[in-house]
Amino acid sequence: MNRPTGLKRSCLAIVLAAGEGTRMCSSRPKVLHAIGGRTLIAHVLTAAVQAGGAGIAVVVGPGREDVAAEARKLAPQAQIFEQSERLGTAHAVLSARPAIAQKTDGKLADDILVMFADTPLVRPETLSQLRAALAEGAAVAVLGFTPKDAAGYGRLVMNGNDLVAIREEKDATADERAIGFSKGGLMALSGQQALAILDKIGNANAKGEYYLTDAVAISREMGLKAVAIDTAEDDVRGINTKAQLAEAEAVLQSRLRAQAMDAGVTLVAPETVFLSSDTRLGKDVTIEPNVVFGPGVTVEDGATIRAFSHLEGAHVGRGARVGPFARLRPGARLGADVHIGNFVEVKASTIEAGAKANHLAYIGDARVGEGANIGAGTITCNYDGVDKHHTDIGKGAFIGTNSSLVAPVKIGDGAYIGSGSVVTEDVPADALAIERSEQVIKEGWAARFRAAKAAGKKKS
Ligand code: UD1
Ligand code: MG
Repeated sequence: MNRPTGLKRSCLAIVLAAGEGTRMCSSRPKVLHAIGGRTLIAHVLTAAVQAGGAGIAVVVGPGREDVAAEARKLAPQAQIFEQSERLGTAHAVLSARPAIAQKTDGKLADDILVMFADTPLVRPETLSQLRAALAEGAAVAVLGFTPKDAAGYGRLVMNGNDLVAIREEKDATADERAIGFSKGGLMALSGQQALAILDKIGNANAKGEYYLTDAVAISREMGLKAVAIDTAEDDVRGINTKAQLAEAEAVLQSRLRAQAMDAGVTLVAPETVFLSSDTRLGKDVTIEPNVVFGPGVTVEDGATIRAFSHLEGAHVGRGARVGPFARLRPGARLGADVHIGNFVEVKASTIEAGAKANHLAYIGDARVGEGANIGAGTITCNYDGVDKHHTDIGKGAFIGTNSSLVAPVKIGDGAYIGSGSVVTEDVPADALAIERSEQVIKEGWAARFRAAKAAGKKKS
């Protein structure tokens, strides 16, 4: 990663997040849609922080407290600015004027990154390239790419290696429209020059908007240097529609799968495994096909997640086995070598080392002690319709199949629960609790029953 310049120079990242994204046809603002289990704006803020953005300014639309809250969740230091009217990208940047003008130790920020919150796939190393261009003396650095279809993008007008201007589609001549090299949703400005440049931008253009992209021509007129950095389309993929959201998800998933495999994870069928941006997988972890990781999952070394399992907010200990067809919900914490088998759901429960629940069980709001065995069909009845209650199962306990443990209830260490019991009272350590009616044997009953039935049929 191109870090050295980033470390020495100070950086302010301005994230533009105003605009509803009407083409998403959603009641949710565009930038609060998620890929890889993380909102679009959270991806952008994460990249900004990783690229050394010490200062963060987020520009939101009027009254968009939800967007502001999401930004603060990820970057508590972020300053939030409201753009009262949507008058263009330069106007949006200038809504953060106090942040641009702010001095730290008597100095303006060296680098200003302008990022679009709907362009979530930009990698920190790409941002570092923009910052490096500023360090080398450019006043404006722009990410350029060559899309399959450049319609709608600002075209980069080059003179050799020099970036001369960016022409927006609606203002471009036919010749300019023929240019393939286009502007992606990112730009960097020298902190020393930013306000002087931005204040010169007018709105005499086809859209009547203050175009940030005019910063290039203006900086040239001021005798400053502007450069374009060629980047891959995936980095600058903007999202306007649900279809583009799905495309970005696909790009992100292939990056996450590649990272996991590079780190020593075995993905048997990588294209069928869905990861979250924060999924943490240890070495020699094996993930079988069709596994979905929601946010907040950690899997320690040597564990196996078998096919068709769904995990979210869960921790899987060293060497544990989960699935096939298992569901770990938030707060599931499995110790080392735990086995959670098919059709077992675990929620807000700690399963201690070596414990097993191999088939058809629900374990919610519980502790399962070390080495305990949970038989098929066991249910912790944690909910009384109003409140949730806790079940505590001791070390080495044996819960017979088809038992209901009605919480709050405590099963002592080493205790046995007879199959089919409905346990409502605490069970002492090493005791047997059995709660079912006694078995009755009626010798020869079945034979007599069948004979009577057969006789009845002959008569009719
Ligand atoms: C912009 C660029 C274009 C580039 C393209 C890449 C300008 C003038 N044009 O065009 O060169 O190829 O992005 O995707 O910059 N926004 C505000 N307030 C505003 C206007 C926009 O916050 O008043 C935000 C939007 O929420 C969005 C971003 O700025 O995140 C870009 O705005 P958009 O209208 O999508 O610009 P494009 O026409 O796509
Ligand atoms: Mg756009």
